[in-house]
Amino acid sequence: MTHESGSSAHGREFDPSAYGRKIADVYDTTVEQLPTDAAVDRLHELADGGPVLEFGIGTGRLALPLAARGLAVAGVDGSAEMVEVLRSKPGGDRIPVTVGDFAATRVEGEFALVVLALNTIFALPSQDAQVNCFRNAAAHLRPGGRFVVEAWVPDPAAFRNGSALRLLSLSEDTVLAEAARLSTADQMMYTTKIRMTAGGLRLLPANHRYAWPAELDLMARLAGLEREHRWSDWTGTPFTDDSRTHVSVYRL
Ligand SMILES: C[S@@+](CC[C@H](N)C(=O)[O-])C[C@H]1O[C@@H](n2cnc3c(N)ncnc32)[C@H](O)[C@@H]1O
Repeated sequence: MTHESGSSAHGREFDPSAYGRKIADVYDTTVEQLPTDAAVDRLHELADGGPVLEFGIGTGRLALPLAARGLAVAGVDGSAEMVEVLRSKPGGDRIPVTVGDFAATRVEGEFALVVLALNTIFALPSQDAQVNCFRNAAAHLRPGGRFVVEAWVPDPAAFRNGSALRLLSLSEDTVLAEAARLSTADQMMYTTKIRMTAGGLRLLPANHRYAWPAELDLMARLAGLEREHRWSDWTGTPFTDDSRTHVSVYRL
């Protein structure tokens, strides 16, 4: 694992380790409900034999099953704590991970697929940083390689007076809720997840500089990428007026 500090890409102070530092020990419990198998199936198909680079590899939710299917997988993540969880899992010590900001960090090699899943493009705090991320993804691709971005579609109508509170998951042991505030002027959504268990409360903050799919398409074009697909989920459901999320595939 190597270390790089990567805030220069953003033009203002930004700490790519902040999210992971606060959530690493419980992160996996917050993503149990996600359609991980469908995502892995689709990524495996798009990699076309690999190799794969995952920006924001985290605890290996996608990377470990992709590696288990025989693909060479590498990662970049801002948080040493998240990578430590990945390392503790079977096969985790065989995945090379560079700790740094994925808008700026370069790793060795040319890849068939670069992946940026689960809205993590919005973790970058500005349009400039997001454009840099698309350029960085393109710089890691071999000719014909793909960059896959999974993100939600902004939905200001879900907010009342600029704020929203929603239940994310509920079991007898754990309740996960999210409080969110929207700033439409600067396209920011500030959220704190609240994880409630018998052991107490945990507050898990995350800020998002959100962008509509069309803005992401323009960032891709600035980086020399063309859109190949847009689905509303990993199974390939068509993207429509009602889609609240998208999986977009860009090609070099
Ligand atoms: C929501 S988690 C997703 C983890 C994994 N990709 C998954 O699908 O489960 C986002 C990950 O991106 C990392 N991250 C956020 N911003 C980053 C940045 N600018 N540079 C590198 N890593 C970043 C966090 O540390 C975290 O591990």
